[in-house]
Amino acid sequence: MTEPVRVAVLISGRGSNMLALSEHKRRDPDRTYKLALVASNVPEARGLVLAKRLGIPTWAKSHEGMKRAEFDALLDEQLHAHEIEIVALAGYMRLLSPGFVEKWEGRILNIHPSLLPLHKGLDTHKRAILAGDEYGGCSVHVVTADLDSGPVVAQAKVKILPRDDAESLAERVLEEEHRLYPLALEEYCRAVRELEGETPA
Ligand code: GRF
Repeated sequence: MTEPVRVAVLISGRGSNMLALSEHKRRDPDRTYKLALVASNVPEARGLVLAKRLGIPTWAKSHEGMKRAEFDALLDEQLHAHEIEIVALAGYMRLLSPGFVEKWEGRILNIHPSLLPLHKGLDTHKRAILAGDEYGGCSVHVVTADLDSGPVVAQAKVKILPRDDAESLAERVLEEEHRLYPLALEEYCRAVRELEGETPA
């Protein structure tokens, strides 16, 4: 049987998407990926506690006082130490250095809470409502040097209701994120193995 792709999830906060990725794997161990590391630039991130409970190896270090490239070099070292093949950003609130992105080209995914290319960056739900958009949603995309601009691999739409505020919309979009990200990661990892000439069982 083909080995699952070893994935590192990068988080900075509560880690609910990380949990969804882990749950998806737990429901069927034959998934094309395995969470081999959860890493964070915020040592007190709640998601780290969840990851430890799930028995996933963790690494955390505050980026404060460090140059971006310096921190990313440490992160890169950890990824190699854990034989990581794909990096999944899940609420990782720190820009990656261009050198890191280049080194991991095509191997970093991110989930963003908008229908990209609309509303890159922060405050996406508020901006979608203010713009009068009919739909909000979320996108899984490949990370490139430009923020939230890499190729989109999957999207889910959420209807914006007249009574919505940023919080209520965020809540419904998050539910979609939890559905979308595991499926998108699963497919991406299948493609990774296929490109290597192997088909996951
Ligand atoms: C999610 O909305 C994700 O789309 C965005 O940050 C949030 C992270 O939430 N990038 P969580 O830490 O996965 O709960």
